[in-house]
Amino acid sequence: MAPTPAQLQSVTASQRVHDLLVKLHAESAAQENSISQIFFYISRIALYYLHKNPWGPSADDHMRDKFVSLEEDKCQFMYLLARTTGARNIIEAGTSFGVSTIYLALAVGQNVAGAKADGQITTGKVIATEKEPTKAERARKHWEQAGEEVEPWIELRVGDLLETLKVEEGMPDQIDMLLLDIWTPLALPTLELVRPRLRRGALILADNTVMAKSLYKEFMTYVYDTKNGFKTTTVPYSGGLR
Ligand SMILES: C[S@@+](CC[C@H](N)C(=O)[O-])C[C@H]1O[C@@H](n2cnc3c(N)ncnc32)[C@H](O)[C@@H]1O
Repeated sequence: MAPTPAQLQSVTASQRVHDLLVKLHAESAAQENSISQIFFYISRIALYYLHKNPWGPSADDHMRDKFVSLEEDKCQFMYLLARTTGARNIIEAGTSFGVSTIYLALAVGQNVAGAKADGQITTGKVIATEKEPTKAERARKHWEQAGEEVEPWIELRVGDLLETLKVEEGMPDQIDMLLLDIWTPLALPTLELVRPRLRRGALILADNTVMAKSLYKEFMTYVYDTKNGFKTTTVPYSGGLR
């Protein structure tokens, strides 16, 4: 499958990386559009209303072989946000098989190269997080396939991100961007954990905030609370992106 015109228009990358992204998005979309996966998501919302506990070990088991990658249009938008804001240090909460990470790593590598061309001495990285070792392993393979435009810009932390993101070693002092593409109960705890490092004007993206509105309740209450200092809007992609 060839890269779409939209992909070529929005993302600067080699043909190899474009081809890889097209393939990975197609695999993810095939899983997401299956009846069983749609039923799974509906059942999570039902469980929230019944027990206030939509997630558990059985949900983790179900998701272990699923991409659940951020859709291609959202990835392109995220890449463009990272490029236009010059983000050099990004945290990705929820990495899975590493698809969105590829976009973030492209942006970081290109932003660092641009800053160096302007005479700045700088570097940057994407801190990727995944608790499932088998998923982390597969993500690493994808980044290896993507090659030097991508792989050197990623530091993967394997384990529960509420622990791995506390590790100071290798953690940049200031974070420019945070992607929350994580099971919804973790969105607010992750934001609270990363918040002290967010630079003024940092970007935070949270996926599926419309589709999973009820599951994001605490997160949204926090973000809407003016004393927490966030400005926010929803971008009308599938499921909503905030
Ligand atoms: C929606 S997927 C991420 C998709 C990825 N951003 C992409 O676009 O390709 C969320 C991932 O978060 C992982 N995850 C869930 N709880 C976690 C935790 N406590 N710490 C780290 N990763 C976790 C899941 O295993 C899953 O792979």
